[in-house]
Parts: sequence; C-alpha cells; structure tokens
Amino acid sequence: MARIAIFDSGVGGLSIYSEVSRRLPGHEFVFVSDNQSYPYGNKTEDWLIERVQKLSQRVVDRCSPDVFVVACNTASTIVLPALRETLEVPVVGVVPAIKPAAKLSKTKHLGLLATPGTIVRAYTSDLIKEFAADCAVSKVGSSRLVELAEQKLRGKRIDLSVLEAELEPLLDNKKIDVLVLACTHFPLLNNEIQSVFKANNHLIKLVDSAKGIASRVSSLIDDMHPAALTTSNRTVKHQAFFTSGIDAQNLLIKQLEIIGLTYQGKL
Ligand code: DGL
Repeated sequence: MARIAIFDSGVGGLSIYSEVSRRLPGHEFVFVSDNQSYPYGNKTEDWLIERVQKLSQRVVDRCSPDVFVVACNTASTIVLPALRETLEVPVVGVVPAIKPAAKLSKTKHLGLLATPGTIVRAYTSDLIKEFAADCAVSKVGSSRLVELAEQKLRGKRIDLSVLEAELEPLLDNKKIDVLVLACTHFPLLNNEIQSVFKANNHLIKLVDSAKGIASRVSSLIDDMHPAALTTSNRTVKHQAFFTSGIDAQNLLIKQLEIIGLTYQGKL
C-alpha cells in the first residue's frame, strides 16, 4: 500500500484527490490545504517557492508519503524544480492540460481559464509554444472563480450571473471549442461552467489535468518496489489537514466526508 499526499492552497486539490483515489482504491491519502496562505493566485513567484517548499517538507516529515502531488497549477508552474531538488519523494505537478486540449480541438481555438498567476507564467507560454503552436489561445485569469469553488464546497449557492461575468471574454468567441480548466478549483464548478456556456448557445468541451495525474501517480506506484512503500494499518486512511484548521461547524467537513476524507485538524 502506498501513501499519496495531495497538496493545494485550498479545496481545488479535492478535484485531483477524487480522481486519483477513484483510480487507486486501497491506498492511503493525505490531503493538505494551505488555507492559512490561500489564495496562491495573487502571490509572487519568490513567495510561492519559499512557502511551498517549506510546507511540502513539513508534509513529508510528518506524513511520510510515497508520492507528493502538487495539486495546484499556480504553484506547480513555478515551484517544481525547487521541490524536486529538496524532497526525497517523487513529486507530481499539476500543470495546464494544453497538450490534450490542442489534440481535441477541431477549430484550433482554445480557451485557457486559470488564476492570474498561472496565466502569466513563462511555464504556461512554453506549454502553448510546445503543444499548441497551431492553436489560438484566449486566456482568462480569474480569482473570483477560485472563491466561487471554495464557497460551493462550503454549501453556498453559486450565483451563475457572477460566473457568467467572469467567463464573458470566452463566451462570445464561438470559435473556442475546448476550454482548459487550468486551476484545480475549476473542475469543482464543471456543471455550472457548462450551463453558462449552454445558456449562451456555445458548445464547449472542458479539459482538466485530473485523469492524466491519476495515470502518472498510478504508474509511479506500479514502478515502486512493494517493500519500499509505506506499510500502514489495515484500515486505509484518507486524512485531510488544513494549515490553519477549519471550524468544526464548517460544512466543508461534511463535504470532505462525502468524498471519503476525514478532517484531522491543523498540520
Ligand atoms: N487551485 C490552485 C490552482 O490550481 C490555485 C488557487 C489559488 O489561487 O489559491 O492554481
């Protein structure tokens, strides 16, 4: 049995957790949200490198995962080289799914929806140059959508008109046939995003990185020697930690339980 750590600033990493845990039942999971420093989308690159490096080391020291997943595009597009240098476990990063989106697009016009940080990263432009050179890419950076996903998981109703206002630059361009959800929070709003596009008579396919990450984690674990993996109790634990904790009344704790995670407190 392996222990897989999944890390994000907020609840976005749950979209990755859901896919990886579905694909790899029988393994242990440690979900960590840095809600103390959330959101990451507006932080400087130097700040992110320092924070994520420090916190990842803490997760590795305390939880001994066999694989560490940075379930955050905003962090992965800047911190992966530093993490891979310092952490003693394999690091899987979640980055914009530009390659599969470019393959899927018939019109060769993609939408890219991410945090303001991910939108301006050199890593993101390099992905576009390498894998979508034949595509036009319309980019939208939104922190508001990240907040909406956080609210949804705390049981709040999503105001579709707010969502529509955020998506407006993409809605009118009917040539866009594939939209890359390049923030792990956004697949949590899949249905809402689809219904806004539908209401605007715009047929679109949504693409995110979760399935690719599940395959990558799965093949990493397959390649590990069973004896090298974390041996643990007979009951498979799926634990969730939040760096500044969450209130016991918070509906998010219920949501975590619904998807199989038990809230453990602060990390
Ligand atoms: N979920 C994160 C991502 O994939 C970022 C959210 C935030 O701004 O903290 O980029």
